[in-house]
Amino acid sequence: MSSHNPSQPVTRASLARMKAAGEKITCLTAYDAGFARLIDAAGVDMIIVGDSLGMVVQGRESTLPVTLDDMIYHAAAVARGARRALRVVDMPFMTYADVRAALANAARLMREGGAQMVKLEGGARVTEIVHDLVQQGIPVCGHLGLLPQSVHQLGGYRVQGREREAAHAILEDARGLESAGAALLVLECVPAALAGEITRAVSMPVIGIGAGPECDGQVLVLQDMLGITPGKAPRFARDFMAGAGSIQAAVEAYLRAVQDGSFPAPEHCF
Ligand code: KIV
Repeated sequence: MSSHNPSQPVTRASLARMKAAGEKITCLTAYDAGFARLIDAAGVDMIIVGDSLGMVVQGRESTLPVTLDDMIYHAAAVARGARRALRVVDMPFMTYADVRAALANAARLMREGGAQMVKLEGGARVTEIVHDLVQQGIPVCGHLGLLPQSVHQLGGYRVQGREREAAHAILEDARGLESAGAALLVLECVPAALAGEITRAVSMPVIGIGAGPECDGQVLVLQDMLGITPGKAPRFARDFMAGAGSIQAAVEAYLRAVQDGSFPAPEHCF
């Protein structure tokens, strides 16, 4: 458990304080009340209701078919289970294609899904939208690097930012999102050195997934952390259930490993 008072709800301000203090932020995805209750009681700082539910819950090929109603259903369930962790909910594919749609859809995620922050993918193309959401009082988490909603444009689930120009573009996008008012950033599948540079360049907390140990915090998809990924688990994941004996023990081992910096290890990094 982090040094954040365990009886107090986690807020964006507490996460910012953790970054300033160099304390690692723990995050997992969840999609239902039961798992949300379990990981919340174990002391996770943040829960992301990810559109990865398309794959790990609905059995689909990608996140693209996930609808706003799907997200609201799962986010509301998570909100009933979690007491302390900050709840961040994904805006699914094409629900933030313009400012008007983004405002209306984010409002539904907050009103009906109990979201405390919304997450959307992309850099320069979404900064105006991020700005307008924040102006309306909607906290926003950005998402850069591998963007699963753009999988067909990217040509697959690949590490991003390996070349100098691409790395520079991701760094500039991170700065742009912060200037637009984003409170947090998820950085997915980028080289560890680039993730470290971005983490030091922005004041918002950076939560990595496949982005190395220098991020301010780590997130894993719950199923990957429990070793029950449908199909092949991603290289950056670790099965914490192996040898743990119970789901609760696996979650606690994950939280400890993030907090003491032993996860991610070099074999989980690019
Ligand atoms: O959908 C998801 O699970 C995500 C993770 C990378 C946090 O966005």
